[in-house]
Amino acid sequence: MPRALARAAMTHPQAGPKTHEALVERAGSLSESDLSDLCEAAAAAIIEGGGFGWVRPQPRPVLESYFRGVCLVPERALFLARLDGTVVGSAQLLRPPRNNEAQAFAATLMHAFVAPYARGHGLARALTLRVEEAAAATGAKVLNLDLRATQTAAIALYESLGYVRWGAHPAYAHVGGQDVAGLFYFKRLAE
Ligand SMILES: CC(C)(COP(=O)(O)OP(=O)(O)OC[C@H]1O[C@@H](n2cnc3c(N)ncnc32)[C@H](O)[C@@H]1OP(=O)(O)O)[C@@H](O)C(=O)NCCC(=O)NCCS
Repeated sequence: MPRALARAAMTHPQAGPKTHEALVERAGSLSESDLSDLCEAAAAAIIEGGGFGWVRPQPRPVLESYFRGVCLVPERALFLARLDGTVVGSAQLLRPPRNNEAQAFAATLMHAFVAPYARGHGLARALTLRVEEAAAATGAKVLNLDLRATQTAAIALYESLGYVRWGAHPAYAHVGGQDVAGLFYFKRLAE
């Protein structure tokens, strides 16, 4: 698997005095240990309040099948966040299918999360920048994303990176028996 393609902040202000190695990389395939760590991170994110669609804890085989499947989809690229070598989060870049010529210039950043035990080290920011770089490298001019209005940390992150909010959906998700609004963003990528 290709190693570090981007390096996050080594000493993030919230990280305390101990320095950590924070890296992001694109995953070609997943080793058994990376898959296991990724599933643990995902499970922790789901329990903490939802990460990437799931709102209820999932059995480990379901998470494993899901991430194995992600690696097989040609239009999807999986990016991993590592803290001190351990996979603690991920994000996905989704390109339009080949028939969608009208939107071939755009891509979507999806399902970004960092496990609660690895937050505050700049990994989500590094993941986002790495996904932007990968999208631009495939010719994408625009990156789209959407999230729940309750995901305040992510909103702060994306707005600090220049994502423009263009819309809101009052019934975007349904969590805990209640509708949750969604917010839609885009960013024009540098040439
Ligand atoms: C959003 C999330 C990915 C951030 O992960 P992270 O690795 O801790 O984020 P970073 O350390 O890279 O922080 C980047 C920026 O995010 C924002 N941010 C991160 N945590 C925050 C918090 N608790 N409150 C407010 N803003 C926060 C800040 O703008 C921060 O920049 P700064 O450190 O310069 O202030 C993580 O909280 C998460 O997985 N949340 C649940 C899932 C989710 O919301 N996914 C996004 C949907 S697509």
